[in-house]
Amino acid sequence: MTDSATKTDDFAARSIDLDGKVALVTGASRGIGKAIAFALAARGARVALNCNTGGSLAEQVRDEIRGLGGAAEYYAHNIADEDEVQKMRDEVIADFNQVDILVNNAGITRDKTFKKMTREMWDTVISVDLTGVFLVTKQFIDPMAERKWGRVVNIASVIGEIGNFGQTNYAAAKGGLIAFSKSLAREYARKGITVNTVAPGFIKTDMTEAVPEAGLKMVTDATPIGRLGLPNEVAAGVAFLASDAASYVTGHVLDINGGYSM
Ligand code: NAI
Repeated sequence: MTDSATKTDDFAARSIDLDGKVALVTGASRGIGKAIAFALAARGARVALNCNTGGSLAEQVRDEIRGLGGAAEYYAHNIADEDEVQKMRDEVIADFNQVDILVNNAGITRDKTFKKMTREMWDTVISVDLTGVFLVTKQFIDPMAERKWGRVVNIASVIGEIGNFGQTNYAAAKGGLIAFSKSLAREYARKGITVNTVAPGFIKTDMTEAVPEAGLKMVTDATPIGRLGLPNEVAAGVAFLASDAASYVTGHVLDINGGYSM
């Protein structure tokens, strides 16, 4: 076989080194997004950090990455607002020139049983967790295609695969995100871009702080690994999918859930 990908030396070169790449991570001020930003920066990427509120948390993430010798800036914009997303695009491009890796991580919950769920709770979750991904991806994917290299990694959830009591809005958004990612993967596969989804299980962050203790115990009891996940454990999967090592992986859903859904 003459295909260069079969040669050991070339294959070894396809590492998780992200040197020279620019990554944009939405929702990067805390939790999983923050861990992703660090994981990408640790592998050499320059990182643009988005969150809706800005302030001290985002500043801290930026400064810590800079303190470790990396390049980072933050952009406080609401991803559900098209004008703000356009502003973010302009600012990120002015600072970094391009985006090679887009991680759509920002997400919210507004949990209630379907009986009690309001139209407002439905709309709010869909607008951030699903429409927000559409709006941000729109701004960045075609320039990646022009350069013939790009990575889109979308953070869905195990709930988007199996559903959950009290989360019809969130499950619909995350299930929609998985279907969106597979369709986008098909459209951009021959343009040098891979589009993959990471579906975390229950991870220790502010989001799961809101889950009552008894609910978390039920989850850990039902998780073969027997504990909640850590943001770094999700970030490691994202770093792989963002790298050249994952050049033949697209349209995939990577479960990082301690075996919860198998
Ligand atoms: P978090 O609540 O700790 O952090 C959310 C981040 O998103 C923050 O930086 C916040 O500023 C940002 N954000 C929220 N709304 C935004 C908006 N409209 N525009 C821009 N930024 C916005 O959340 P966590 O736990 O770190 O979750 C991150 C992602 O992982 C979310 O998409 C979530 O649905 C998903 N996920 C989380 C799980 C968990 O157990 N924590 C499990 C499965 C998926």
